[in-house]
Amino acid sequence: MAKGEKSWEKRLSGEVDQLAVNYVESLSYDRRLYKYDIQGSIAHAQMLCAKGFLTADELDAIKGGLAQIQDEIEAGQFEFNVLQEDIHMAVEAALTEKIGDPGRKLHTGRSRNDQIATDMRLWMREEIDILRSKVRDLQGAFVELASKYTKDMMPAYTHLQRAQPIAIGAYLLSFVEMLERDYQRLGDCRKRVNVSPLGSGAVAGSTIPLDRAMTAELLGFEGVMRNSMDGMSDRDFCAEFTFACSLAAVHLSRFAEDFIIYSSSEFDFVRIDDKYCTSSSMMPQKRNPDMLELMRGKTGNIFGSLSAMLMMLKSQPSTYNRDMQEDKLHIFSAADVLRASLDIATAIVSNTQFKTADIAAGLDKGFLDATCLAEYLVRKGVPFRKAHGIVGGLVAECEKQGLAKLADLPLETFTDACDVIEKDVYDNLGATNVVKQYASAGSAGTKQVEEQVAFWRQEFGQ
Ligand code: ARG
Repeated sequence: MAKGEKSWEKRLSGEVDQLAVNYVESLSYDRRLYKYDIQGSIAHAQMLCAKGFLTADELDAIKGGLAQIQDEIEAGQFEFNVLQEDIHMAVEAALTEKIGDPGRKLHTGRSRNDQIATDMRLWMREEIDILRSKVRDLQGAFVELASKYTKDMMPAYTHLQRAQPIAIGAYLLSFVEMLERDYQRLGDCRKRVNVSPLGSGAVAGSTIPLDRAMTAELLGFEGVMRNSMDGMSDRDFCAEFTFACSLAAVHLSRFAEDFIIYSSSEFDFVRIDDKYCTSSSMMPQKRNPDMLELMRGKTGNIFGSLSAMLMMLKSQPSTYNRDMQEDKLHIFSAADVLRASLDIATAIVSNTQFKTADIAAGLDKGFLDATCLAEYLVRKGVPFRKAHGIVGGLVAECEKQGLAKLADLPLETFTDACDVIEKDVYDNLGATNVVKQYASAGSAGTKQVEEQVAFWRQEFGQ
């Protein structure tokens, strides 16, 4: 098969409509799979040789030719011809042109259908490892930042209303947990990716006794897919992968949203480094958190990949249909966007400072200590529901008297509201006291944050 020539030219009329050529090709984007395609071909050729379908010399010629092709592609010297449709045909045609007949034997017992399924799995296995290490980098950056803020406090929000005081580190470590699930989820996905479809053929396997266990082992797969029809057409791993990317993107987007809000003049909790801000072409004073806004915005692209994957799969009749060629666009896009966002998130987290003094100065706003006061009453024997009502009344009293905080109320008002209250009530008021009081595992106090930082440091060998 020479360049530009197709093996099925004997079957179909040789006429070419450039429109159709351009429409059907995937070479423009699947060329990035070249390395895996060549890897798969070498394993397949080794197996064909072991089975007696290639001589040792033919195998050497194939290996040498493929190595040359890889070098040419990497040196930017390979001429990709869109007439070849995809990376599989492009490599095979180039090989045949270089080495002649042994190249024509390579496709024995193999189809592009199992070839592409194999290539994508090899690519994704490596991509998952890269993404997981980037998730770890971001987790590490969050842990480092959290370790700087185990004592400084900030308000925690629910409904974007001030809720309870927390150590800033507790907030930061919540992202380490989310990312840990992403790390695990990508790892789970990898298990289902790392099985070999090679040898499934076009749909029904082959009458040639292919040694599928051998190619699987050569390619580092954990096992062989049992059923050829499922093997060459399964794309669940693509849907799973884009879902795992989507959920990681949700976490990045929520982080981005927080930091956008926290860097506004209204909140003024964090200062994002200038490097990760842009200014306005008109308003000279502006520092806009564009990287974070893009991180939030790009989440939509990743969701798009997931929904495109699912839409593409639904209602396809069994096994391979050309619809599936589009899958690569979605998995590549999801991976590329997530990779870039993880990198920029790590850079931003590593270069952000919390304005601890400003935050502390405003911590009395919002009666953040109300729950702690109710729990103080509980410890004195008051049923929680009753305590909740009493504290609610005291907050209303403060508002009526124009007092900013519960600690501004005189002891008399407390004892009038509930006779178990004593002078020690003031030890339970104010953010600093509250954060010291947190007692339950995983709560947002300094002690728990320090424990969690130590846990993650050990986990990451940091
Ligand atoms: N380029 C194709 C794809 O990505 C390869 C498989 C083509 N198979 C076929 N029977 N036309 O899906």
